Amino acid sequence: MPLQIIRADITKMKVDAIVNAANSTLLGGGGVDGAIHRAAGPELLKECRTLGGCAAGDAKITKGYNLPAKYVIHTVGPIWRDGTYGEPEILASAYRSSLELADAYHCESVAFPLISAGAYGCPRKTALSIAVNTIGEYVLEHDLNVFLVIYDKKSFEIGSSWFGSLQTYIDDAYVREQMLAYGSERRYQTTSFASYPAKKKSRFPGIGMGEKKKERKGRKEETETSFHRPEAELFSGYAKREEFEADMMAPNAAPMPQYAMAPAEDLEDRLRRLDESFSKKLLRMIDERGMKDSECYKKANIDRKHFSKIRKDEHYRPKKTTVLAFCIALELTLPQTRAFLESAGYALSHANVADMIVEFFIERGNYNIFEINEALFHYDQNLLGS
Ligand code: APR
Repeated sequence: MPLQIIRADITKMKVDAIVNAANSTLLGGGGVDGAIHRAAGPELLKECRTLGGCAAGDAKITKGYNLPAKYVIHTVGPIWRDGTYGEPEILASAYRSSLELADAYHCESVAFPLISAGAYGCPRKTALSIAVNTIGEYVLEHDLNVFLVIYDKKSFEIGSSWFGSLQTYIDDAYVREQMLAYGSERRYQTTSFASYPAKKKSRFPGIGMGEKKKERKGRKEETETSFHRPEAELFSGYAKREEFEADMMAPNAAPMPQYAMAPAEDLEDRLRRLDESFSKKLLRMIDERGMKDSECYKKANIDRKHFSKIRKDEHYRPKKTTVLAFCIALELTLPQTRAFLESAGYALSHANVADMIVEFFIERGNYNIFEINEALFHYDQNLLGS
């Protein structure tokens, strides 16, 4: 995966190069600078003394000595004032200079801390978005696997403008999911009612109330821990859930839409009707959009090796995050995304936070996979790409 956001201690990363957020003397300091020098041992400082310092936005390279990484790239971020003294440009330049140096030394993998986000006072969300966008731009044009290492997630906050509305979107979609699960939104009647608890006058065939209630109870508890929504809010207008369910089961509730059973067809027919394979469909859609393969897999945050595996194997079975990554790269609409997922045996679900995050970005036409991954990382979800 060309750009991954992970939680780790950079001094333990087994990559070709780790980047040090140093100061212009390159003679060590606190924070990640201090941690790297401690882990590398005194030889690192000895070599740094020969470098003659480093200007802000530039980068210099040394060996890694006792570190698992082969090299240390020392760069100097800006001391943050208010962002109007060229700090963003200097910070972006610190990332770019480090990436160019890594390339020049034929590194295949590099790990960055959040430069200037500590002692140098850059607001974390600004530091993060400059890091994600600068590195994201670079890996679209170069073959390099980059790790952006967030050391203390607790202070990790998303800065992008969409974050507030994303949280609301997730909450709203979640409430809808809960209400649907309890049958409150009649206009959303779907097959999920089919498993609704069977009652003598009920139109909802399915398992007994007992199991359903237990399962439902479990879901409510799980709900509250994950979303802390008081029950009254979820079942607004009803004093308690039992009243709510009685109403939903009432004979005058909207009739359950009848689902005509698909005519039986024998296995051969179904196998003959098999859609084109995932990889065939992907390659066709890349061609239809006049994209180059490399343009598509880089926009999908997929590395070259992985793409060639997909290309060679007509029966390749992708993970859901891989399919979603290509939906983003191909800039598919929501219906096209659902169809592409279904052809690979997956579906989007409002019970799945990661799916809701991807849906949120697609609905807003934001196909920046690195921004989407920033959001997925914030919610502890698997990132898109591979
Ligand atoms: N692994 C990964 N990230 C780390 C680690 C670690 N072991 N230790 C700290 N960090 C993170 C911090 O949480 C912060 O998000 O590195 C980021 C950068 O913080 P600083 O190390 O303070 O670097 P910076 O803000 O660029 O200030 C540089 O601080 O240490 C001195 O000599 C350094 O004068 C220079 C200044």
